[in-house]
Amino acid sequence: MEDSSTPTFMEVPFQKKDSVHPRTLTDEDRDRLKKQDDKIVSDFKQQKLEKEAQRNWDLFYKRNSTNFFKDRHWTAREFEELANSQKDAPLVLLEAGCGVGNFLFPLLQENPSLFIHACDFSPRAVQFVKDNPRCAPDRCNAFQCDLTKDDLRANVPAASVDMATLIFVLSALHPDTMPTALENIHRVLKPGGCVLFRDYGLYDHAMFRFAPGHKLADSFYVRQDGTRAYYFSTDELAKLFTAAGFSVVSNEYVLRETVNKKEGLCVPRVFVQGKFVKKTQTGQNHEIPGTEQDENRTSSVDDTEEHSCST
Ligand SMILES: C[S@@+](CC[C@H](N)C(=O)[O-])C[C@H]1O[C@@H](n2cnc3c(N)ncnc32)[C@H](O)[C@@H]1O
Repeated sequence: MEDSSTPTFMEVPFQKKDSVHPRTLTDEDRDRLKKQDDKIVSDFKQQKLEKEAQRNWDLFYKRNSTNFFKDRHWTAREFEELANSQKDAPLVLLEAGCGVGNFLFPLLQENPSLFIHACDFSPRAVQFVKDNPRCAPDRCNAFQCDLTKDDLRANVPAASVDMATLIFVLSALHPDTMPTALENIHRVLKPGGCVLFRDYGLYDHAMFRFAPGHKLADSFYVRQDGTRAYYFSTDELAKLFTAAGFSVVSNEYVLRETVNKKEGLCVPRVFVQGKFVKKTQTGQNHEIPGTEQDENRTSSVDDTEEHSCST
């Protein structure tokens, strides 16, 4: 996923949100996107990648163990419903695609009233979570699950979850399987429960670094290690969540610049961040106690998503 030549980036103090535009493309950007179309991955290879998706993520964790992603201490800052959740009232969270727990362990520490169901389809990643001394059985239920195939209700009671988080996970799925994953999550959420979402946005810097031979479809690419990445527009995201029975509370691009200290290079990162609420039967959204709708927030995320791709 990230080769040894990957430069390290330093965040520059600039970040803005834009609900409409990811960013303006230069001629060079357009050329790069056009060249990617010269060599699209064959159907045969694409089917193989889909069959081997679980294996490829498991190998990723075999190579990197728990060292690839840094603990995500920014999440409670970025999603105020996590910070504001009533610390005395127990809150049930599902971290879908938990990896080795970089998102969930800081949260468990910060909020003593949280209980987290955590699943991933890499058995190795789940084992890392279970083996972590911070994974107490009365606070965390870690289990292996393919969100696109296995019914979450085998491990999580139906309609029992207050909040689900999808942090850089939906982009790893084939677009055809994204609706199934969202419907799966929808079934375990309480009516009025929400999904907190953050992932790669359309025209993120990483999207332009894919060489010809790595494009699978529009906005969809394969990395050198066989893991895949989709780059979302906010429109697509709204359609996906709406079709799965959610209403959109917020859905916007997060634009960041990161600088490579060594080379003095400034690169534009684009992420999408949103909050989607499971509709109640009457069509109304019920807010989770202790949370507020989050309009016009400014963001200061210390994002560690510096995945590069093979160019
Ligand atoms: C970029 S990692 C993000 C991990 C974690 N959410 C975090 O923020 O640190 C993406 C994760 O999605 C998992 N994943 C990919 N496809 C999946 C699927 N179909 N079902 C469950 N998990 C999946 C991968 O194994 C990987 O751990």
